Amino acid sequence: MIDVALSPADIRPAGTAVVVDVLRATSTIAQALAGGYRRVLCCETLDAALALRSPARALAGERGCVPPPGFDLGNSPAAVRRADRDELVLATTNGCPAIVRSAAGSGEVVLASLLNMDAVVEDLSDIDDVLVVCAGTDGRFALEDAYLAGRLVARLRGERSDAAVAAQRLAKTFHSPLEALAANANAAVLRREGLADDIAWCAQESVLDIVPRVTAVESGIATVEADARDRTRSDLVAGAEAR
Ligand code: MLT
Repeated sequence: MIDVALSPADIRPAGTAVVVDVLRATSTIAQALAGGYRRVLCCETLDAALALRSPARALAGERGCVPPPGFDLGNSPAAVRRADRDELVLATTNGCPAIVRSAAGSGEVVLASLLNMDAVVEDLSDIDDVLVVCAGTDGRFALEDAYLAGRLVARLRGERSDAAVAAQRLAKTFHSPLEALAANANAAVLRREGLADDIAWCAQESVLDIVPRVTAVESGIATVEADARDRTRSDLVAGAEAR
């Protein structure tokens, strides 16, 4: 079944969960891994992130779309495009908690954004038990996440749930990714905070050949690493089962 959790309340265990927070957490994570960070440590809380501070780690995150006190960076993909430390610690309002929650119950968890859409679709090509998880905003539906969910659903094989059909139909109503990413409440907050460039950055389609994957989850922190593209799916599933 190809299903979509249109808000975090619909998160459930699935064979494969694909977490989507287009504006901006999953876009920033894909960009950070492409930019050379060896892993991203996604934290449910700001305190957990601050406790991970070390010289080898950059601390990034947001509350209300702006960097929290004591953090090195915000949640902008542009800010992490060139790694200057080994690891990125990331704490965001919606995306990181959705990743941690999804990882707690699902066989494997990958992260999708428009930036890495083709790579994720290719990775899922032989899987028909998929839950696309929309991180949403403060527990509620977010249009831009449903848009990407619909774009993904359109390219996956398998029976579709009603939520998957709804997302697919919604995605078709937009003429371009930028139109979808600009016409929502989160985009309005980003514009208000002077971060409009991030909307255009996140609207770029399939420019990163990277599949961020949760490789461990413990105490509200999910470790996310880029796929070693030469590892086979059975290796990855075996690894997930062993965790
Ligand atoms: C989040 O995780 O809540 C978002 O990525 C918010 C943001 O745009 O920074």
